[in-house]
Amino acid sequence: MAVSDLSMMVTPGAIHGLIGPNGAGKSTVFNLISGVLSLSAGEIFFKGERISGLRPSEICRRGVARTFQATTLFREFTVLQNLLVAAHLRAADGLAPALFASPAYRRKEREALASAQENLTSLGLGGTAQAGRSVEKLPHRDQKALSIAMALATGAELVLLDEPLAGLTAQEREETLGALRRLRDRGLTILLVEHDMKAVMGLCDVVTVLDHGVRIAEGTPREIQENPAVIEAYLGAEDARA
Ligand SMILES: Nc1ncnc2c1ncn2[C@@H]1O[C@H](COP(=O)(O)OP(=O)(O)O)[C@@H](O)[C@H]1O
Ligand SMILES: [Mg+2]
Repeated sequence: MAVSDLSMMVTPGAIHGLIGPNGAGKSTVFNLISGVLSLSAGEIFFKGERISGLRPSEICRRGVARTFQATTLFREFTVLQNLLVAAHLRAADGLAPALFASPAYRRKEREALASAQENLTSLGLGGTAQAGRSVEKLPHRDQKALSIAMALATGAELVLLDEPLAGLTAQEREETLGALRRLRDRGLTILLVEHDMKAVMGLCDVVTVLDHGVRIAEGTPREIQENPAVIEAYLGAEDARA
């Protein structure tokens, strides 16, 4: 069983870390929250309403969006086309397909797209020169920035970021961390899976530690760094690897 005993509460406006060794079940938790996988037991609530059991599109419509560990963009599309896909999801909120051509829909789609481009800029991938570029020609860091911008373009209030720093250089990591802080300052809630412990400990308000599908600790970064069970299961092993 990938995740067998996990209870956690994410505070609105916080950056909440979810860490643990490879295979601990972190990506599975994201799949469960976003509805990609169904729960066999337990419940998930968002803003007081149960979202477990809903379809992924409905969970996204309610304000929960995710990125994947490997970037899963529409590779043959341009940057702008990828953003349009996400903006469409937001603009289509509650509309019957027949109304997609309506002025109200087009206005909402324009608004969603404008804010998506703003996010892209704050993630360091702004500028109209980029918009027409095909995703497969973008450098790795720009693809990662685009996948975060897409999650935001859906109008999400909670974003689940799966290893947003993986494969980035030290400077790119710093830039991404700055962008995540600015997003939090604007009221966004972030659930973060990341192996870069320095980044996690510097960025997160709260950290939950998962090991073999079981929550073994939760607390402030300082509490987590001093927790013997966490050092034993994860942080110690990290040191040994370094
Ligand atoms: N589609 C799948 N089918 C079967 N087992 C899987 C699948 N995806 C992940 N697992 C297993 O579930 C466990 C948790 O995986 P995962 O959630 O990817 O961990 P993490 O993201 O923490 O590295 C691992 O033992 C993994 O091998
Ligand atoms: Mg994973």
